Amino acid sequence: MRNLNETNLTDAVIAALSEAKDPRFKEIMSSLVKHLHEFIQEVHLTEAEWLRGIQFLTAVGQKCDDRRQEFILLSDTLGATTMKDIINNLKPHGVTEYTILGPFYRSDAPELPLSGNLAGEIAGEPVIVKGRVLAPDGTAIPDAKLEVWQSDSEGFYDLQMERMNGSALRGVFRTDADGNYLFRTIKPAFYPIPQDGPVGQMLIAMGRHPYRPAHIHFMISAEGYQPVTTELFVSGDPYLDSDAVFGVRESLIVSFVRNDSKEDAQQWNVSVPFYTVDYDFVLQPT
Ligand SMILES: [Fe+2]
Repeated sequence: MRNLNETNLTDAVIAALSEAKDPRFKEIMSSLVKHLHEFIQEVHLTEAEWLRGIQFLTAVGQKCDDRRQEFILLSDTLGATTMKDIINNLKPHGVTEYTILGPFYRSDAPELPLSGNLAGEIAGEPVIVKGRVLAPDGTAIPDAKLEVWQSDSEGFYDLQMERMNGSALRGVFRTDADGNYLFRTIKPAFYPIPQDGPVGQMLIAMGRHPYRPAHIHFMISAEGYQPVTTELFVSGDPYLDSDAVFGVRESLIVSFVRNDSKEDAQQWNVSVPFYTVDYDFVLQPT
């Protein structure tokens, strides 16, 4: 391992892994070294740029604490999270697509009855979300569990709300015997990912905005089926084609259909105008 140069250095570093005991670790590190070296050569990284990169990654680490994970944000905004999600969640056509979990999931959401109100006392434009959970052949899946969470009409989740003890805009529903689900809520809003750290500065340097299009998060599971983590996006949102974390799938964009009928509103116990969303989720059998 002497007289190393730009043509034999990569092989020398990979060869230094020969005693690594875990073969998967060895594979990952060898590939990482190969691509890292190729990257440095391809852009002809200067001393100052290398140092800037080190300072950036240091700042990303320093921004992390119990509530903030700047490295995941970095992964999300570089599309790395979505690439990982895509290759690990390939589904047959017709099965509900997976998309990004995001940082606002909580496993302690309250169980709510069907037709329950996810929004509680939080004001906003009323929405009725309903549909079925189905197998690929159209068979209804009874007792499927839908964990649902979303932002308010300003784009904030309960975890971001000051003076919020407990939870809001999240709940757990179960489908009835015919696979139906139904709940009331309010229209979510587009929102920015956290911009006050190094990833925010990176987005500015990249000429990008920090917004995610409005969406409702779902995590759906049922016995005998593969669970899916997904989101329903509000059609017409200005950020559908430039999601800061690259999570939008065409099959997950839904119409929030406006309804001005006072009669219909009375039936749902909401004010006018209100919106309805109809969406069937399809789970893949295990
Ligand atoms: Fe979200």
